[in-house]
This record gives sequence, C-alpha cells and structure tokens, in this order.
Amino acid sequence: MKNAQSKNTDPQIPEDISTEIFINNWRIYRKIIENDNMSHREGYAKLREILIEEMRRPFIFVDLACGDAYYSSKVLQDTKVEKYIGIDVSEEALSLAKDEFRDTSIEARFLRADFINFAEIIDKPADVIWVGFSLHHLDTPDKLQFMKKAKKALSNDGIFIIYEPILLEGEDRSIYYNRFKQTFDIHWSGLTKEEGEFLLEHVRESEKPETSKDWIKLGNEAGFSNVKKVFSEKTGLYELFKFK
Ligand SMILES: C[S@@+](CC[C@H](N)C(=O)[O-])C[C@H]1O[C@@H](n2cnc3c(N)ncnc32)[C@H](O)[C@@H]1O
Repeated sequence: MKNAQSKNTDPQIPEDISTEIFINNWRIYRKIIENDNMSHREGYAKLREILIEEMRRPFIFVDLACGDAYYSSKVLQDTKVEKYIGIDVSEEALSLAKDEFRDTSIEARFLRADFINFAEIIDKPADVIWVGFSLHHLDTPDKLQFMKKAKKALSNDGIFIIYEPILLEGEDRSIYYNRFKQTFDIHWSGLTKEEGEFLLEHVRESEKPETSKDWIKLGNEAGFSNVKKVFSEKTGLYELFKFK
C-alpha cells in the first residue's frame, strides 16, 4: 500500500494513507461490501429504521465519505428524504454513487472534497449527517472538532449518526488489530490473498477506533444531549451511534 500512487492536486483533498486504499483500490472495498464483510446490510437497515421512525418530515441527508452510496441509495427509498448530498475524495466512488441514484426520484448532489470541510461547502442546516466507516481515521481531538462541527451544522431536530469500529475496554490499537485479524480470518470472504494483506495493512496503519464509552463521551463533549449506541454488529467490530 505504501507504493500506492496518490495523485491529488486539490489542496482540499487529503494525501494520507487512510484514503489511498479507497482512492486507488475502490475495487477491493466494493468486494467487501458485496460480501457483506463489514455488515453493511444490517447497519444500513438500522439507519433506515431511524430515518423512518424519527424523520417524519422532509429532510436533507448528508452522506460524508459516501463511497459508492450503494446502501445509502437503497435505505433512503420511500423515506421523507428531500435531498441527498454525498461527499467523498474518490472520483471513482462518486461516479458509482451517481449511478446508484440515477434511477431514483431522490434529488442528489455529489461533491469531491475532504469530508472534514463539509460545513463550508453545503447549504445548512442539514437534517441528518451520516458517516459510515470513516470517522475513525481521525485522531481523537480531530474527531471531537468534527463532531462539534456536525452539531453546529444540524437543524434543531437533526440527527448525527455514525457506524464505526470500536475498541473493547482495555484494548489499544495493536490489540484491536489482532482482534480484527482473527475476525478477518474467520468471517471475511471474497478477497484474494494480496487484497487481504493490503486491507490488513490499512487497518494496522490507519484505523483509530474508540471504545463505545469514548464515542459516547465525544458526542457529549461535542454538545449532543441525547447520545446512544443503537446497534452492534455480529462480529463485535462495528457499532452504530446516534447523536441528537
Ligand atoms: C470505508 S469507505 C466508507 C464508504 C461508505 N461510507 C460506507 O459506509 O461504506 C471510506 C470512504 O471514505 C472516503 N474518504 C476517506 N477519507 C476521506 C476524506 N478525508 N474526505 C472524504 N472522503 C474520504 C473514501 O474515498 C471512501 O469512499
């Protein structure tokens, strides 16, 4: 992965290793989604449940680090969504995302940018801000700054929702990596040996999960008064949190 080419010329676009796996190797992530290795299906089903129960009026949905929006485009069907905004650094992912929305009736807009800068480039307020599997690339203080930004960008009854990897109590990043590798060896399917090694290196080098308690604490510190873990996926690697 260290040899992966990064050809970003836009100063807004980050150059760090955590994005390169997706920018240059979208194909690997697409396989992960198709094989449901990260429980996209269940996690996004939970997102849909929240949208249906809690967004009973027309709403603007902001999908940060949207990737190919495969699942977002499906779970927004037959909700009260009025407008979808997808932000990502990967041209390839955004092009796939556009295709996913082509045959829907949802008004969709796509922006190539660093998701951290979302507040400067979208019309506010947003009603739902969703981040799937991406916030954990930030260091803890940057996660907090980002969450404060999200809080500020939301409408009064708006919701911030994330689906992210978690550390178990007492784990550090190296123990997390070992747990990830064990889960990967037992449960993940569909990747070649080389793709698997590439992914494991990405996880070891770039993932910075928090404990459930710390994800919740960050939300409280960012100013959200109603913070809940609403879903844990079956392998124990990923959890979904809702902040209001
Ligand atoms: C693990 S994928 C998640 C995609 C999607 N949200 C999901 O739930 O499957 C990470 C995505 O984040 C994008 N990405 C990584 N860093 C980014 C950044 N700083 N700003 C915008 N997009 C970023 C990548 O291009 C990739 O599409």
